[in-house]
Amino acid sequence: MPDAKMAAAMGAYRIFVELCRDGCIVGIGSGSTVKRFIEVLDVGEPAVARSLYYATSVDTAIHLSSRGLRVLDVSMLMNEKLLPDVYVDGADEVSRELNLIKGGGGALLREKVLAYLSRRRIYIVDASKLVDVLGTRFPVPLEVVPYTLPLVTRSLESMGYMYRVRSGSGKLGPVVTDNGNYVVDVYTGPIRSPETLESKFMSIPGVAATGIFLRTLVDTVIVGFEDGSYKEVVRT
Ligand code: A5P
Repeated sequence: MPDAKMAAAMGAYRIFVELCRDGCIVGIGSGSTVKRFIEVLDVGEPAVARSLYYATSVDTAIHLSSRGLRVLDVSMLMNEKLLPDVYVDGADEVSRELNLIKGGGGALLREKVLAYLSRRRIYIVDASKLVDVLGTRFPVPLEVVPYTLPLVTRSLESMGYMYRVRSGSGKLGPVVTDNGNYVVDVYTGPIRSPETLESKFMSIPGVAATGIFLRTLVDTVIVGFEDGSYKEVVRT
């Protein structure tokens, strides 16, 4: 049965093979759409087999390793000779201007680092992720240094925001990210200026990253549809 996420993943795979014919350095985001991308990688293809991969989460690293692919430690990102040529990730919301909300999987800080450092950033989404205005459906996640949590939540309250400290199942207490941080989901409602909101949240000490990915971190969005087709939207 056609699958919109798979369609987007196939679109990204075609670009990836074209860009990385003899292998390159690839950043891989997190989430269910990214898992489809990892599934479609043909490990017999030189572009796939000869590439080195950075993972934005333990989850993604496990999936890449289980396909026999070589995963670099994220500390290698600080070596300027080992920056990713291409980055592939999902998103929770995509606006008409190509600003994004990300972080549904709690991997936002590493995702932002990878997106910032990569030469070509490709996001794969199904059509349900397209919104007129960011903040319409998803809250904005903040990755927060644990001991600053009371400071961050007090600041959000004084700014007038509703929020929830993210918790999971299988363990009591807050979700702890792969960086040892907490996640606070902020119910912003429609976001008129993503740039302003990004600056506002980042002005709170203890916020390590927000899930607002401004369009400057986006080169291409591939939108998949239920009939198996996809369209490529390039930032101009
Ligand atoms: C992970 O932290 C997120 O940024 C994901 O990329 C985002 O939540 C999209 O996930 P799905 O592909 O599962 O919808």
